[in-house]
Amino acid sequence: MADRDALIAYLNGEYLPRGEARVPITDRGLLFGDSVYEVVPAYGGRPFRVGHHLQRLDRSLAAIRMDNPLSHAEWRQVFDRLTGQLPGQDQSIYLQVTRGAYPKRSHVIPAEVHPTVLAFISPKPPRDAEKAQQGIRVITLDDIRWHRCDIKATALLANVLARAQATEEGADEAILIRDGAAMEGTASNLFVVSNGLLITPPDSEELLPGITRDLVLELAQEAGVPFAQAAIDAADLETADEIWLTSSTREVSAVVELNGRPVGSGRPGELWQRMDALFQACKERLRQGVECHDD
Ligand code: PDD
Repeated sequence: MADRDALIAYLNGEYLPRGEARVPITDRGLLFGDSVYEVVPAYGGRPFRVGHHLQRLDRSLAAIRMDNPLSHAEWRQVFDRLTGQLPGQDQSIYLQVTRGAYPKRSHVIPAEVHPTVLAFISPKPPRDAEKAQQGIRVITLDDIRWHRCDIKATALLANVLARAQATEEGADEAILIRDGAAMEGTASNLFVVSNGLLITPPDSEELLPGITRDLVLELAQEAGVPFAQAAIDAADLETADEIWLTSSTREVSAVVELNGRPVGSGRPGELWQRMDALFQACKERLRQGVECHDD
């Protein structure tokens, strides 16, 4: 495994070892969580669904009243430079845009904005197929986050605390419940399978429009799997045949235990097996240099 701090990172137009990259203590990302981010997986060194991630970055920035400091072509150049350090390897690209550092700490957005722009890669361990077949355990928790969870903001304290509670209770993730409805995980989107129907909550300001989620919906459509975007009641989780959580990091994970009770048979379900195979095939095509659907 590469020494992470020795890997070259991108910071405000420069490339330098990650361990040497610094931002000022007055950066608004640090002081206010005034920043947005993306996590882009790269399979075989090739960024996955990068166009979708860049579009979501544009949306997040617009929502916090910022322009994208780089064009999509410039971002792609940055990604190529960074991922080129681990050629052919699976990795994860992290990028963040903050409103920048200013001499005066003030809640007021400065008139002249000079953002902080950074990106770095981390090696992604190869998928452990056996582990994936074991599934994951989740608990449900009250969703105490704000009402703009569609913005991929770095202000993630509620998510971090929920994940901490999940870990304490021996679970891998927490599904967040708002007003009786299951929204998403702390860092993943939610799907349930009920009587052969695949359901995920519709896009709204209460959850992140996941790139993996959208791909799963496209794959379902292509494979003729019936699906719906509809609210999922917390009670529906208990009767679901299958529950999945999706993200750029988790891919498509099967939930086998919910609040200490088995989900369905207590093992990853049949539809998950099918979707996981489709998803893995997509990754494999990208490794061979063929985009899965569009990028
Ligand atoms: N998180 N919902 C939340 C709250 C998330 O933080 C994430 C991803 C997702 C899934 O989105 P995507 O499929 O585009 O990765 C849903 C990233 C991986 C993270 O914070 O590390």
